[in-house]
Amino acid sequence: MKVIETIAEMKRVRLELPGSVALVPTMGYLHDGHLELVRRAKAENRWGVVSIFVNPTQFAPHEDYTAYLRDIPRDLAMLEKVNADMVFIPSADEMYRTGHHTWVNVEQITDRLEGEIRPGHFRGVATVCNKLFNIVQPARAYFGQKDAQQLVVIRRMVSDLNMNLEVVNVPTVREADGLAMSSRNTYLSPDERRAAVVLYHALKLAQKMWSQGDRDPHRMRHEMIKLIEEEPLVEKIDYVSVADSETLEELHEVSPRALVSLAVKIGRPRLIDNIVLE
Ligand code: PAF
Repeated sequence: MKVIETIAEMKRVRLELPGSVALVPTMGYLHDGHLELVRRAKAENRWGVVSIFVNPTQFAPHEDYTAYLRDIPRDLAMLEKVNADMVFIPSADEMYRTGHHTWVNVEQITDRLEGEIRPGHFRGVATVCNKLFNIVQPARAYFGQKDAQQLVVIRRMVSDLNMNLEVVNVPTVREADGLAMSSRNTYLSPDERRAAVVLYHALKLAQKMWSQGDRDPHRMRHEMIKLIEEEPLVEKIDYVSVADSETLEELHEVSPRALVSLAVKIGRPRLIDNIVLE
């Protein structure tokens, strides 16, 4: 497994790679959800490149970019085991040189849900993904369904800007009790970890209501919120949404492939999760 630390070297190595190249963009501190992206990328392409870059521009000033968990030796050991071919670890100074003034702004769909609570977040995500796509030039880029809005934003950007790659969506990897895997779970105390499964239970409730023929999004949200509020360790519900899975607009009637998503603060971390109703 080759570790590459500069943009120039990544570009040079890329030119010598025959066959399809997959990119798995990450911010490191990997878990099995990331490894699943790499497994898929490797199964479907000749080369699997993983980027590890804690992107400063997607953090708001109060979100503490410097405190984001980092452990490169641990990440590299995990990536060896899933046969990643290359790991690209650029520095923030090189990615954002003094005088960097170009941003990618995907409009409208970034005003809702996570975008409403974290203004500017998706501008940072879209910009860094655009840069990584330009540097690595992948045929396919792999993203987890857990960050559903991020996936919608990246798909929109790739389509709107006629970029030459396929965006691949990989299902959320869950712990045995249903909690979606996330680096943020590390911040949960044992009691909070037990409480955090309430997000999954709320999504299961929505799925059950849908299966039983309930098409009222207000009732669906109401029942989900009621269930979440029964958990004493829940600090705050940021949103519970039943939305169109492309426009992310709230639905007046629940339809097939509706995106049910939620963001809930349990103790220190803010957890997000979603399902698409089938
Ligand atoms: O999902 C993430 O880890 C990040 O938002 C991404 C896609 C690597 C961009 O920094």
